[in-house]
Amino acid sequence: MKLVLAPMEGLTDPIMRDVLTHVGSFDWCVTEFIRITDSILPDHIYYSFCPELKNSGKTAAGTPVHVQFLGNNPEMLAANAAKVVELGAPAIDLNFGCPAKTVNRHRGGSVLLDEPETVHLLVKAVRDAVPAHIPVSAKMRLGYLDENHTLDNAHAIEDAGANWLTVHARTKADGYTPPAYWEKIQPIVEALDINVIANGEIWNNTDAKACIAQSDCHDIMIGRGAVTTPDLTLCIRENSDQAILSWPELVQLQQRFLSGQYKTEIGMIGRYKQWLGMMTKAYPEAQELWAKVKKEKQLELIISHLNT
Ligand SMILES: Cc1cc2nc3c(=O)[nH]c(=O)nc-3n(C[C@H](O)[C@H](O)[C@H](O)COP(=O)(O)O)c2cc1C
Repeated sequence: MKLVLAPMEGLTDPIMRDVLTHVGSFDWCVTEFIRITDSILPDHIYYSFCPELKNSGKTAAGTPVHVQFLGNNPEMLAANAAKVVELGAPAIDLNFGCPAKTVNRHRGGSVLLDEPETVHLLVKAVRDAVPAHIPVSAKMRLGYLDENHTLDNAHAIEDAGANWLTVHARTKADGYTPPAYWEKIQPIVEALDINVIANGEIWNNTDAKACIAQSDCHDIMIGRGAVTTPDLTLCIRENSDQAILSWPELVQLQQRFLSGQYKTEIGMIGRYKQWLGMMTKAYPEAQELWAKVKKEKQLELIISHLNT
């Protein structure tokens, strides 16, 4: 079973990937989406989205980080893919799932699921631009406003030479409202020869096993659940519904996060509070800590609350 850490803009950034792969058991991670329009991005942009490029494309724990692109320009996607592979990216993923209005208005992300021929063109352009040993994958939702093209898109992606396909089991219209329709991935698995990875609403080991059973996938991608419960992959591998990491171990993880580098202190505080807020759903200790730190504006004071 492969367990993949989902790309999440503003959440699974390099520091979060570092801490989650430090304790978790992920086969690989995917960067936040990098939007490609009409130019080849400079090195420093790539290093800022994916500093792991300077470490053979791996987190400090040794977990590979795939680079995700979003865009609709085949030539530019191809040129940027070739470049980031030269910089050390171990694989390229293409985003056909983003529901953001601005992105969709510019014909990027999930809106392209209404155009399977465009999806094919974009995947093929990237596949042809990078060496054969570098995997190219795609991530899609079931559709944009409806599910009329689910299989057309899946076939388009496979026929374009993608190595695997990840499916977030909802349409763009479904947004993030539960449930995720894991059973709707099953016909895609049946129709394709390439591997299909299931994604959406996996919050615990029971969800993971239900998703695998209903989708017929062997492999899953986990997003918010992995941030909320950093030991989720360990629980899934051990088939356990009990927490594996103690709160003191999670405190160490938070200390590691807070010792990371953000451009500004305020940025670091924002990101940390976002994470702690998510952890309050899983840990009573996080709720107590949250009550103490939620109004703090200085990193030093937040760290001292964490240490006591
Ligand atoms: C804050 C946030 C940012 C996201 N950013 C991306 C992204 O950059 N690329 C992408 O393909 N999906 C993105 N997603 C979708 C996730 O990768 C995933 O498909 C979705 O959260 C469902 O999985 P989950 O229920 O395990 O979180 C994002 C989701 C969230 C919540």
